[in-house]
Amino acid sequence: MLCSMLAHAAEVASPNGNVKMKFWVDQKGRPMYEMSYKERPVVLPSHLGLELAKDKHASKGLDERDLMTGFKIVKEETSTFDETWQPVWGETRNIRNHYVEYVAMLSQQWVEPRVTAGEGQRGMFEESHERKINIRFRVYDDGIGLRYEFPQQKELNYFLIQDERTEFRMAGDHMAWWLPGDYDTQEQETQQTKLSEIRNRMKEAVNWGNSSVAVFSPTGVQTSLQMKSDAIDINGERRSLYINIHEAACADYATMHLELVDAKTKALTTELGGGSNAYTPAPKPSRYPLPEPFTFVSHLTPDATGLKGCMQTPCMTPWRTVMVSDDARDMLSSNLILNLNEPCALDDTSWIHPTKYCGVWWEMIVGRGSWHYTNDFPSIYLNQIDWSKVKPNGTHKANNENVKRYIDFAAKNGLDEVLVEGWNVGWEDWANMWKRDVFDFQTPYPDFDIKMLNDYAHSKGVKLLMHHETSSSTQNYERHMEKAFQLMNQYGYDAVKTGYVGDIIPRGDHHYSQSMNNHYLYVVKEAAKHHIMVNAHEATRPTGLCRTYPNLVGNESARGTEYEAFGGSRPDHTCILPFTRLQGGPMDYTPGIFVTKLSEWSKNTSWARITIAGSLALYLTMYSPLQMAADLPENYEKFDDAFQFIRDVACDWDESIYLEAEPADYITVARKAKGTDNWFIGGKCDENGHEAVVKLDFLDKGRKYECTIYQDAPDAHYETNPQAYVITKKTVKAGQTLKLKEAPGGGFAISLIAQ
Ligand code: NOJ
Ligand code: CA
Repeated sequence: MLCSMLAHAAEVASPNGNVKMKFWVDQKGRPMYEMSYKERPVVLPSHLGLELAKDKHASKGLDERDLMTGFKIVKEETSTFDETWQPVWGETRNIRNHYVEYVAMLSQQWVEPRVTAGEGQRGMFEESHERKINIRFRVYDDGIGLRYEFPQQKELNYFLIQDERTEFRMAGDHMAWWLPGDYDTQEQETQQTKLSEIRNRMKEAVNWGNSSVAVFSPTGVQTSLQMKSDAIDINGERRSLYINIHEAACADYATMHLELVDAKTKALTTELGGGSNAYTPAPKPSRYPLPEPFTFVSHLTPDATGLKGCMQTPCMTPWRTVMVSDDARDMLSSNLILNLNEPCALDDTSWIHPTKYCGVWWEMIVGRGSWHYTNDFPSIYLNQIDWSKVKPNGTHKANNENVKRYIDFAAKNGLDEVLVEGWNVGWEDWANMWKRDVFDFQTPYPDFDIKMLNDYAHSKGVKLLMHHETSSSTQNYERHMEKAFQLMNQYGYDAVKTGYVGDIIPRGDHHYSQSMNNHYLYVVKEAAKHHIMVNAHEATRPTGLCRTYPNLVGNESARGTEYEAFGGSRPDHTCILPFTRLQGGPMDYTPGIFVTKLSEWSKNTSWARITIAGSLALYLTMYSPLQMAADLPENYEKFDDAFQFIRDVACDWDESIYLEAEPADYITVARKAKGTDNWFIGGKCDENGHEAVVKLDFLDKGRKYECTIYQDAPDAHYETNPQAYVITKKTVKAGQTLKLKEAPGGGFAISLIAQ
């Protein structure tokens, strides 16, 4: 290996020795690292560094010399950390954070002629300069995290990032599950190709019709990126490596994408690929030589000026993470991202709770009802309308009678909350109008009696769940937010679903820029002051910040169930998301569609590619402390015996055991409900079906469990026979094995109640 030729390379092994990392500085003073798993290469020698932007304020102290070359290691420290912590909610009661840490303190020194005022003395003096950065690694048994730290110092105080150039050089042409790199949307279908095929697939991978799209490169992809290497023989067994690249603790920094250097790459991105928000200036090309093919290079999301980061020391980047294992299940059980985040920042978390909810939502998404109240105005100025005099359109679903129906349904079925969308004025011209003052988040439509409905819900032990669609008009939201949260406190709401549909206003900014990431976190922190839980749709993809701010109970940040009403998602979609999107935190996927052919109750011809048993499985395979029962009450009433599982299933856990997993094929998981002895097991598969083998060796020995199995019928199929399921009850004990046949696009769900 390259590093063996060098005088000094630090080598760090994980606690069990499986993961190894080497760090050194090459002849040009460029920081480099490599990584292996059980002696197999994961990341080949790769550069680290940041290119800084030249700026008109440079002479006033903004630093513009790159942080790429000319570094020397001045000090190194290695230490071990081992601690077990308890999340407020999660997949397990205890999480072990065990790693070996290595930090290299680097110095970049140079000499410059000193410019003096005196005539004829120019260049006579030489001045020495020095800047210091640290690169910190944490080496775990299932991967590594690395980040850049910028201590406060004499010569590095303010700087602008042109781009971060963290490289991940892959050891082969791996299979990859990827989304097109995009500054504004993640609501795309995942592509499965070899790395070398990304470029050819890019154009067709983009749904250009999404409400905000800004693709930046023919080989740019998003994180979390799941990959699988070719298999090799190990002790007579064929074993691949599963490799996942993502980031942890992305705060006050832009979201990272990855740009692949392939055989055709001539330069790192020089232009946007297009889309509805291509107003941002084209990124500047890198000033450094291209790395080898199969290298991913970090590509940060710019703001409206094209800049990628405005930094003030002391500061640091998020962690760049590479997870690895030769067992796909380890990708799902890993806590590496959460562990790399800071501990909980809230003193009191007693008001944060797992939540099962239904909502006045699916009927609007499907198109049978509307969010807006009237059809009478071509445009709306919020302060110029007397809503009591406006003619209702008759399709507005957030009306007293309909909301009460959902409250009754929630109360009858033990659901905690009812989401109501379209309750507040402004929906008449809410999307894609570049409209700043779009909502005030405080004024209900005349047919939504906010006091009466909250009182009615509370009298039945149910809460309403607030909705704040911002239409991406972020300054407008920040202006109204305090009053909007006060209104929630006044009426007893404790959770808000926010949304960022459309291009960002102020114009030119992007959903995943540093400024927008600051906005999303600001909302979460302000909400915490009001004891409000947040579920943000269309916001940036999560990076484990929910450890620090556990009132961030959900995000969308991927293609959710709503797309089943917009043409549908492939049946393997939900067998990929846990490997990718869910790595950084839970998703408000809004599962539970029982009447999958939407034309059975609406004019929508789209259909959900899933069986009813498969829908039940999602409550387990798609971990979230916030779970929706998304279908209509009347649709659930037709299948009340299957709905029993949604009534019963927990959404907070003491223990989770991934029993089977393969990206895009199948996932089987057993979870023990928090504070009980009861287990729930779920299995979900792709379009090919699957036979799950579930060994009940995790149950208490000698104890009996009342077992209810919700399973696809033998002739079930997501397309032709999605509602065919069988429910069986029996008594089981530890040591028994269950074999469960999952239909194409199907799955199963099991409850095990300890006797
Ligand atoms: C998009 C969200 O994902 C969806 O759940 C919501 O209903 C609409 N925006 C309207 O806010
Ligand atoms: Ca969405």
